[in-house]
Amino acid sequence: MKSIRVRALLGWGALVFAGIAAGLLWMVIDAFQATVVTAEAMPGMNPSAESPTDVSRRFSSNLPPQLQQAVAGWNQLISANFAGDQACAECHEKEFQAHRRSGHSRTLTPIDESSLASKLVELGRYQDPQRDQVFEFSRAKDPLLVREVTNAAGVAVPVTWLLGSGTHAQTPIAVDERTQSGVELRWSYFSSNDQLGLTPDHERFDNFASGTIECFGRPMDAADIRACLGCHSTLTPPPSLPIMKSWVVANVGCERCHGPRKKHVELAHLGHAEEAKPMLQYETAEAYMDACSTCHRDESSVKPDATPNELVRFQPYGIKRSRCYLESPDKMTCSTCHDPHDTVSHNRVVSIDQCKQCHGHASSSECSHQPVGDCIECHMPAVEWTAGISFHDHWIRIPDEIPGEFRGVDSAGSLTASDSPHNDGGE
Ligand code: HEC
Ligand code: HEC
Ligand code: HEC
Ligand code: HEC
Ligand code: HEC
Ligand code: HEC
Ligand code: HEC
Repeated sequence: MKSIRVRALLGWGALVFAGIAAGLLWMVIDAFQATVVTAEAMPGMNPSAESPTDVSRRFSSNLPPQLQQAVAGWNQLISANFAGDQACAECHEKEFQAHRRSGHSRTLTPIDESSLASKLVELGRYQDPQRDQVFEFSRAKDPLLVREVTNAAGVAVPVTWLLGSGTHAQTPIAVDERTQSGVELRWSYFSSNDQLGLTPDHERFDNFASGTIECFGRPMDAADIRACLGCHSTLTPPPSLPIMKSWVVANVGCERCHGPRKKHVELAHLGHAEEAKPMLQYETAEAYMDACSTCHRDESSVKPDATPNELVRFQPYGIKRSRCYLESPDKMTCSTCHDPHDTVSHNRVVSIDQCKQCHGHASSSECSHQPVGDCIECHMPAVEWTAGISFHDHWIRIPDEIPGEFRGVDSAGSLTASDSPHNDGGE
C-alpha cells in the first residue's frame, strides 16, 4: 500500500526501561516476594466475602513501602509519557478511525467492561464438551464469577480479562493479584457460531487433577500471564512489579507501535509537532516486520514440533520464507498489502494489485494458470488452524508446495470445494 518509510530510531523501549530502573524497581523484588508467600496456594479458588476488587485494593494498599514507591514511579512514568489513543483523534482522525475498526483496539478488555460477561450471566450455565463438568456464571460483587457446580461444588474463580476482539474468538483469563498466578479458562467464545467452546489447545487438560486450578483450565504462572498480556497490551508492568489490572495499558494502542507520544501531543498543541519526531522506527522491510513479529511471530517463535496448521498463524514467518520477499530485497513488508491501522479487508483488490505489480512484467516468472482469478485463493489459501478458525497462509508459493490438505487448488489448478472464497473463517 505504501513504501517503507525511512526513519531515525527512537528507542522508546529503552526510555521506558531506563526510567523504571532509575525508579528503584529492581530492588524491591524481595520485599514483594515476602508478601506473596503467605498467600493461598490455590489462587482465587475460594470466593470469600471479599470481592476481588476489595482484595486487590487491600493488596495494593498493603504493599511494602519500597514497592509502593516503585508503583508510584510506574504510574508517574505512564502519566508523564503516554497520552492514550483518544488524545490522537483530534489531529489524526483517519488513523484513529481505522484503528477503531481494527482488532488492535480491542485485544484486551476488563471482563466487567465486556458485553460477553452479561451474556454469560444470562446464559447461566455451560456444560464442558469434554469433561463431566458444568460451570455456572454469576455476578454479585465480582465482575464475573465462574463456579464449578458438578464435581467440586463451591469452588469458584473470578475472571479478570477477556483477550481478543472476537473477530474469531475471545478467551478469558483469571489473574490473582496476591499470588501472581492465574488460569486461562477452558471455555472461549467463538464468533463463527456465536457460542462457547473449548479454548484451543485445552484438550491436553481433559484429564485433570481435581481440586487443583486445572479444574478451570490451564494454570498460568506470572511469566505466562505477562506473555499473554504483553502481546495484547500497550504496556504491562515490568517483572519487578506485580501485575495489577489497573497498571496495565490495555489493547495494542497507537503508542505500542509509535512509542510514548505525550510530548508530541503537547508540542503539537503549541504548533511544534515536528519537534517530537521521528516517530516511526522502521528503516528496512525487515525492521518493519520485526516490529510486528514481536506479536505476530516469525521463525524465532517456531517450535520444532510446530505443525503447518499452527504456522499459518505466524504471518511474518510465512512472508520471510516466500521467494517474493527473499528475491525482491527490501520491497515487501506487511504494509505492501495492509494498512497497519485498519482491519483486514474482505476486498482483496489491494493484495492482488500488489501481486500484479511485481508479476506483471516480462522479467518476472508468470503464472501458467492464466492468473485472471484470485491469486490469494491459490497462493495464500485460508487454512484452518483449529476450531473452525482459519488464517491465510502467508508463505506465498506455488500450490504444489503447499501440503495437499491445505491447498486451495488441486494439482491441476482448479479450486477445491473446501476452499471456496467464502470459506475463510469469518473474517
Ligand atoms: C494537536 C495535534 C496532534 C495531536 C494531538 C497528535 N499529533 Fe501526531 N502529528 C501532528 C502533526 C501536525 C504531525 C505532522 C508533523 C510533521 O510531519 O511535520 C504529526 C505527525 C505524526 C506522525 C507521523 C510522523 C512522521 O514522521 O511523519 C505520527 C506517527 C503521529 N503524529 C502520531 C501521533 C500519535 C500516536 C498521537 C497521539 C498519542 C498524536 N500523533 C497526536 C499533530 C498531532
Ligand atoms: C503488541 C502486539 C502486536 C503488535 C506489535 C502488532 N500486532 Fe497486529 N495484532 C495483534 C493482536 C493481539 C491481534 C488480534 C486482534 C484481535 O483480537 O482481533 C492483531 C491483529 C492484527 C491484524 C488483523 C486486524 C483485523 O482487525 O483484521 C492485522 C492486519 C495486524 N495485526 C497487522 C499488524 C502489523 C502490520 C503490525 C506491525 C506494524 C502489527 N500487527 C503489530 C498484536 C500485535
Ligand atoms: C506472542 C504474542 C502473543 C501471545 C503470548 C498471546 N497472543 Fe493472543 N494473539 C496474538 C496475535 C498476533 C493475534 C492475532 C492473530 C492470531 O489470531 O494469531 C492473537 C489473537 C488472539 C485471539 C483471537 C482474537 C480474534 O478474535 O481474532 C485470542 C482469543 C487470543 N489471542 C488470546 C490469547 C490468550 C488468552 C493468551 C495468553 C494465554 C494469548 N492470546 C497470548 C498474539 C499473542
Ligand atoms: C500495529 C502498529 C500501529 C498502531 C497500533 C498504530 N500505528 Fe500508526 N503507523 C504504523 C506504521 C507501521 C506506520 C508507517 C506507515 C505505514 O506502514 O502505513 C504508521 C504511520 C502513522 C502515521 C503517519 C501516516 C502518514 O501517512 O504519514 C500516523 C499519523 C499514525 N501512524 C498515527 C497513528 C495513530 C493516531 C494511531 C492510533 C489511533 C496509530 N497510528 C496506531 C503502525 C501503527
Ligand atoms: C515486491 C514484489 C513481489 C510481490 C508484491 C509479490 N511477489 Fe511473488 N515473487 C516475487 C519474486 C521476485 C519472486 C521470485 C522470482 C520470480 O518468480 O519472479 C516471486 C515468486 C513468486 C512465486 C513462485 C514461488 C515459488 O516458490 O516458486 C509465486 C507463486 C508468487 N510469487 C506469487 C505471488 C502472489 C500470489 C503475490 C500476491 C499475493 C505475489 N507473488 C506478490 C516478487 C513479488
Ligand atoms: C502479499 C500481500 C500480503 C502481505 C505482504 C501480508 N499480508 Fe497479511 N493478509 C493478506 C491477505 C490477502 C489476507 C487475507 C485477508 C483478505 O482476504 O484480504 C491477509 C490476512 C492477514 C491477517 C488476518 C488473519 C488471516 O491470516 O487471515 C493478519 C493478522 C495479517 N494478514 C497480518 C500480516 C502481517 C503481520 C504481515 C507482515 C509480516 C502481513 N500480513 C503481510 C495479504 C498479505
Ligand atoms: C486457479 C489457481 C491459481 C490462480 C487464481 C493463480 N495462480 Fe499462480 N499458479 C497456480 C499454479 C497451480 C502454479 C504452478 C504452475 C506450474 O508449476 O506450472 C502457479 C504458479 C505461479 C507463479 C510461479 C510461476 C513459476 O513458474 O515460477 C507465479 C509468479 C504466480 N503463479 C502468480 C500468480 C498471480 C500473480 C496470480 C493472480 C494475478 C495467480 N498466480 C493466480 C495457480 C493459480
